[in-house]
Amino acid sequence: MKPTLFLAAALLLLPLNTEARKAKKFTHETVAIPAVERQVIAVETDHTVLVLLVQENGLVKTLHYGAPVGDPAQYLGMRFSEEDYNSCEGMAYPATGGRFIGEPALQVKYADGTHNTELYFTGVTVERREGCVSTAIDLKDYVTAMQVKLVYDAYPKEDVITMHTEILNSGAKPVELLNYASSALYLDAKDYLLSHTWGSWAQEMQLERELLGHDLKVIESRRGVQATQSNNPSFLLSLNTRDYSETSGEVIAGALAWSGNFRISFDRDAGGRLTILSGISPYASAWPLAAGECFTTPEMIYTWSSEGAGGASRNLHRWARKYSVYGGGEVNPTLLNSWEGAYFTFTTETLLRMIDDAAGMGLEMFVLDDGWFGNNFPRNSDNAGLGDWEVNVKKLPEGIDYVASYAHSKGLKFGIWIEPEMVNPDSDLAHAHPEWVVQSPGREIYQGRNQWVLDLANPAVEDFVYGIFDRTMQLAPNIDYIKWDCNRVIQSFGSPYLGAAQDKFYISYVQGLYNVMRRIREKYPHVLVQCCSSGGGRVDYGSLRYCNEVWTSDDTDALQRAFIQYSQSLTYPACIMASHVSTVPNHQTSNVTPLKFRFDMACSGRLGMELQPRNLSGEERALAERCIGSYKQYRDLVFRGDLYRFASPYDSNYYGVMYVSEDKSRAVVFTYCVAFEPRTVGGKVFRLQGLDPARKYKVVEQNVDASCWWGNGQSFTGSFLMGGAFNPRLPQLYSSAVFVLEAE
Ligand code: GLA
Repeated sequence: MKPTLFLAAALLLLPLNTEARKAKKFTHETVAIPAVERQVIAVETDHTVLVLLVQENGLVKTLHYGAPVGDPAQYLGMRFSEEDYNSCEGMAYPATGGRFIGEPALQVKYADGTHNTELYFTGVTVERREGCVSTAIDLKDYVTAMQVKLVYDAYPKEDVITMHTEILNSGAKPVELLNYASSALYLDAKDYLLSHTWGSWAQEMQLERELLGHDLKVIESRRGVQATQSNNPSFLLSLNTRDYSETSGEVIAGALAWSGNFRISFDRDAGGRLTILSGISPYASAWPLAAGECFTTPEMIYTWSSEGAGGASRNLHRWARKYSVYGGGEVNPTLLNSWEGAYFTFTTETLLRMIDDAAGMGLEMFVLDDGWFGNNFPRNSDNAGLGDWEVNVKKLPEGIDYVASYAHSKGLKFGIWIEPEMVNPDSDLAHAHPEWVVQSPGREIYQGRNQWVLDLANPAVEDFVYGIFDRTMQLAPNIDYIKWDCNRVIQSFGSPYLGAAQDKFYISYVQGLYNVMRRIREKYPHVLVQCCSSGGGRVDYGSLRYCNEVWTSDDTDALQRAFIQYSQSLTYPACIMASHVSTVPNHQTSNVTPLKFRFDMACSGRLGMELQPRNLSGEERALAERCIGSYKQYRDLVFRGDLYRFASPYDSNYYGVMYVSEDKSRAVVFTYCVAFEPRTVGGKVFRLQGLDPARKYKVVEQNVDASCWWGNGQSFTGSFLMGGAFNPRLPQLYSSAVFVLEAE
């Protein structure tokens, strides 16, 4: 056919086709989404506000997090382009489905295999509790009946907002949660400078700062337990700047209260806006949710400050001391721990002499570390005995009671070490209960430090682990302190108890751990608990709900501690930071540092000693007594004061940190030289912070006869000390000084 004829034929047919198409109109049944009333939801603290907008189409979006904006209702009038209005940009809790194709806070796999969830607003409730206003926003998918409650708890005085979700399967069939973040925070800033920490054994909390680009940034742990010995689930985010500042600019601090696998992602869109998703890592953990079941995610804790990183840290510290750390803000005792001084080799006599020495130096507690248990498989090294928690009769024939009573008779408290989640293959326990060990059928059960992990997903193991704590507490009347250790990461995971539901393992383990800790706290509200995991492998706000402090790191080298302790202070308060004076050469690094430097470093946290006191010379012992004595005079500031970092070991040759009482009448200042500073005329000048500019403070250096500062013993205004006149001489690597400031 000629082309013209073809065209004519086609034109003739055209109306017919259109008719046919009309008749066969494509139909697709959709569920109607009810329109809702447009409203602004403001989650407010004294100096911050999170503003959410409920649109008429039911989408809930985050408009603002940061400085107060006056009346948040002003946002009601804010209009968007149609495209923006309908887009999923900035959704308060983005779910896979609908128009949303980004990183999801929630992804659900339904029984029919679909993955679509679209969450629309159904209601909001506000409840007031002591010190806290809780706002709960209800969202629903109208097709599947999935429901999500977004809970925002605002702590007005501390400027902290915590966020978590309750995910409810109100459909008729089971579903699987593939993603289940605790929170989604949406921000709009020009630049985002992220400060977070990475690490490993004896090298926890190493600071890294980076400007966020457009690629997805993820901070994650898949270690199961010991989750924080790599990254920590906390960070600082400086906004609208490429430079880190302690004292100025907008900074958000975030921390997740969870002791297992976690994932925090930073996703920057083409417009430069950032979504931060935080929660449990979904790694190998699709969570099954039967009809009617609800899954509650852990809390993500946020604060915002316009006073730089220091301001954000202090907000978090104040909140943590009051609401999060068990016994937070109470002064915990100084102590001698037996580990580096005796390791596994001791008798009753060794311990009694250590107790004598601890009492003589003015310490307040003796802690018996590893090595006191196991008979068939005695705990003489780390390759046997874990699991068999009865007193080793060869080393301690008189029992723990005898040692504890001796400590008490000397005026000391008594503490003891356990590692209840673990078992050595060489133990009675491993033989009696092989099914309690984390394992995968047919595969080798790998060892780390010669040990295996017990399956806390199993309620029988929960009971056993609780029983270890409970029975240890009965070994002597008035045990004052338990050091709870956990020296192994989970590999080749698997729970004989969970059968085919292995996806539940990682989460059930942590839930099991928290069940145990909850029971312990019900029965033993007053015992001090240190959370240790090969050092700082469990530093998170989940375990701190039950624990008074953490063993910051097995690295007791005071030089390395400057870096670790500095970074830990970004998101955790000093009251949890156990810091011990150990011997030289240091057992981890071989480094040799002066005893004064070691004491000055340990005194900026919860002071302890971890060495054989018999090996100290008379002069060293006198210095120890002096440092311990002065620490007791100012330590309330370390435990309860506001922390100011005035020199960073990462950015300079010095580390400087100070604690100021709430009423600004007292302060303690710690300064350390951590690397050689080429001599400069006039010496190094520090600008102190946080003092009352108008008040005069008497400045007195501690633990020395001749001070390293010309102004020692004199009084100066806060403004003078903060203005660049404080220049103690710290001429060499390991020079250090501690000053106490008292307002007149
Ligand atoms: C871990 C801890 C140490 C010590 C030993 C005992 O490494 O971090 O402090 O308790 O275990 O084995």
